[in-house]
Amino acid sequence: MKEIKNNHLYWDGCDTVALAEKYGTPLYVFSESEIIAQCQALREDFLDRYPNTRAAYASKAFSTVAMVKIIEREGLSLDVVSGGELYTAIKADFPAERIEFNGNNKSIDELEMAVDYGVGRIIVDSLQEVALLQTICQRLNKTAAILFRITPEVKADTHAFISTGQKDSKFGIPLEEDILFPLVQEAIEAPNLEFLGFHFHVGSQLSDNSAHLAAANVALRLALEVKQRFDYAVKELNYGGGFGVRYTENDVRKPYRYFLEPLMELTEAFCKEHQMPRPEIVIEPGRSIVAEAGITLHTIGSIKELPGIRTYVSIDGGMTDNIRPGLYQAEYTGLIANKAWETPTQTVTISGKACESTDILIKDLQIPDVTSGDLFATFTTGAYGYSMASNYNKLPIPAVVLVKDGQDQLIVKRQSYEQMLENEQPYQEFGGEAHGHSFS
Ligand code: LLP
Repeated sequence: MKEIKNNHLYWDGCDTVALAEKYGTPLYVFSESEIIAQCQALREDFLDRYPNTRAAYASKAFSTVAMVKIIEREGLSLDVVSGGELYTAIKADFPAERIEFNGNNKSIDELEMAVDYGVGRIIVDSLQEVALLQTICQRLNKTAAILFRITPEVKADTHAFISTGQKDSKFGIPLEEDILFPLVQEAIEAPNLEFLGFHFHVGSQLSDNSAHLAAANVALRLALEVKQRFDYAVKELNYGGGFGVRYTENDVRKPYRYFLEPLMELTEAFCKEHQMPRPEIVIEPGRSIVAEAGITLHTIGSIKELPGIRTYVSIDGGMTDNIRPGLYQAEYTGLIANKAWETPTQTVTISGKACESTDILIKDLQIPDVTSGDLFATFTTGAYGYSMASNYNKLPIPAVVLVKDGQDQLIVKRQSYEQMLENEQPYQEFGGEAHGHSFS
């Protein structure tokens, strides 16, 4: 998908310099071929290899109608965590029964929307949610299939900010007998709820499978306990997402098989030993499907050489389109897309344009001679870039282009200044006359 031709970076057959000229910068560019390749890898390593399995794309990584349509066509399920992500799925006509609704604090409105649309699974993540859901389902005369997200009490080897399985966490139902089992009983007995099983998500950007394996053990033991206590067969276990990707040469991307093969072996062995039918196994990959498909294009503006210290090369975006370096000290790499063949001559710091000292995209990157107007491409920005973008400093959210085999299509327009202000209302002095300012 990445090629260099005539000194230019090409992405899925498209000249990035031409894309920047056509659509402007900053610009997110997604390779559809790479997204499809990851869905294919999931089929080969998991879905086609083991019966009774599903993979739900965690749309928080990158949620647009076009992306949801690709996921639907590729036959995956979809994980949403908010009314907004659900709305996006609905607008993409995503089949309701293939949607999973996660979230540690779903609002009543969001739950009503999910039940009304008939989403396939609601992953309950609070003590209040069972009763609330039962009431909503009864009122709407519907039923909902639910799983409990548990806190498996395992420590994942990743940045603390994206680790979620440890005991002290806002996610999941604590593994306390007096909390969890009464809830399970309540769910089994609730007339409008169908209790399916348990869910965990141990953390994100993992390159080691031990946290998943430890958590799967916990979930399987719970399934057994439910069978023994309630004579009730758990039908589904959801092992979450978290499979790591390659941002820089220091990262090793493990194939899906590395995580899923031992997980499935462990699961099969446990079920055999305890004579329980193997529940359906679901995973929720987000980043691993879309991260490496995406790059971001920026135009270089100011270049500040601080003799003996460093050279700051500034781009026309930064933390507003990619908060990950500022938030998690995430590392990226990139190149000058219009000088892609040229030999590096200097080490620089690529910095953003937001009014924050932490708005540094890449420290100490080797690049060739640059001038203002050159095009910078950052790799592996497909996950949690666009989806975490902000209007800080009133910078518009960039456009998104999808490319495939040399063709391109705009899937999200660049936000305009008018759109940034469209929800603002005319200011009226308290006790005074309305000012004549109109935003329409
Ligand atoms: N399922 C659940 C319940 C999750 O909470 C998440 C991610 C996923 C699946 C997908 O995980 P993935 O396969 O993408 O690792 N903004 C952070 C990542 C936060 C992930 C939150 N939950 C980042 O940019 O690194």
